[in-house]
Amino acid sequence: MTNQKNILITGGAGFIGSHVVRLFVQNYPEFKIYNLDSLTYAGNLENLKDVEDYKNYHFLKIDITDAEAVNQAFEQYKFNKVIHLAAESHVDRSITDPLAFARTNIMGTLNLLQAALNLWKGDFKDKLFYHISTDEVYGALGETGLFTETTAYDPNSPYSASKASSDHFVRAYGETYGLPFIISNCSNNYGPNQFPEKLIPLFINNIISGKALPVYGDGNYTRDWLFVIDHAKAIDLIFREGELKATYNIGGFNEWKNIDLVKLLCQQMDEKLNKPSGTSEQLITYVKDRPGHDLRYAIDATKINKELNWSPSVTFEEGLSITIDWYLDNTEWMEKVTSGDYLKYYQEQYSSAE
Ligand code: NAD
Ligand code: TYD
Repeated sequence: MTNQKNILITGGAGFIGSHVVRLFVQNYPEFKIYNLDSLTYAGNLENLKDVEDYKNYHFLKIDITDAEAVNQAFEQYKFNKVIHLAAESHVDRSITDPLAFARTNIMGTLNLLQAALNLWKGDFKDKLFYHISTDEVYGALGETGLFTETTAYDPNSPYSASKASSDHFVRAYGETYGLPFIISNCSNNYGPNQFPEKLIPLFINNIISGKALPVYGDGNYTRDWLFVIDHAKAIDLIFREGELKATYNIGGFNEWKNIDLVKLLCQQMDEKLNKPSGTSEQLITYVKDRPGHDLRYAIDATKINKELNWSPSVTFEEGLSITIDWYLDNTEWMEKVTSGDYLKYYQEQYSSAE
């Protein structure tokens, strides 16, 4: 029993979390994997339908802002490793409702840190609190330069400020109480199961239904894009081999100006939908800019590449093509998440567990 691992993954019903949960459930049959998620609009258990019957998979419907429920779960299930992904994750929503981001991303993280401290009581052998963060905490780059692990934090949006704050608390619990932690900061993810409010799935969905593609400002904003399964693999590697108290930057070495990315997406969509070249591009519409829009993000992923031998497994063109195919094959998923129907699935599937 001493080697028994009870791994808590928070936010496992979301986009990145579901890929991480699947990888862990499949790779680690000997460990118990607990997916803790409150199922907000972004959390969808259908993302995990293919692994929900695995013996080592368990779902806990808990809100991380509920300190008592979080503590109780740690007491009951004796987690010894935590991978924390649960968060409010969309910048535009953080502009309209910043307090929700403070509650989940800051207070929710604190509740988890405190519950880990309460359970582990200073015995940190074989324990880990692995916090999943974003490159957005570093703020905006100009035309040149890259974010490294030592770049000073300089968040600009309520989302990135709340993530920066949670990173600081994780580090503070490490320094003050000795809590064993690792933090990784990743660039923009794309891939299957991403909620269609983020750029790529939103635009795929709009092209399918012939709606306008709202490009913010002049479209010259730059992001570094990483295929979600490559992020999940990096998380697994860091979980197994990462150095305690370290930060790892994860990125695709794959910068795209939004407008160039959108044009590539349009081109691939035209080919897949057998439409004349240029059809989807006609949907591009320049709209009012996002307030405080960060000009450019770009990750220097040399550390994880050199120390843990990690690099992305697909090119952007390949990853984008896989992503589009997934959305075209899963139009029902899209309809359910946009209509809120996926909540019915939870009610039907888990009503006896309530
Ligand atoms: P997501 O919005 O798709 O999923 C978030 C999940 O957290 C959902 O399942 C939601 O139900 C759950 N959740 C939200 N509030 C909760 C609460 N109070 N209690 C319990 N569960 C709650 O997000 P994502 O894109 O998968 O991002 C996951 C993590 O990775 C986040 O911490 C995010 O900051 C980080 N990250 C995301 C990206 C990206 O490009 N998406 C890049 C780098 C880092
Ligand atoms: P997004 O997917 O929201 O990720 P983030 O803001 O975390 O980088 O947006 C990616 C980029 O695309 C960002 O520069 C904003 C831009 N964008 C648009 O131009 N139009 C849109 O409708 C959305 C959602 C984003």
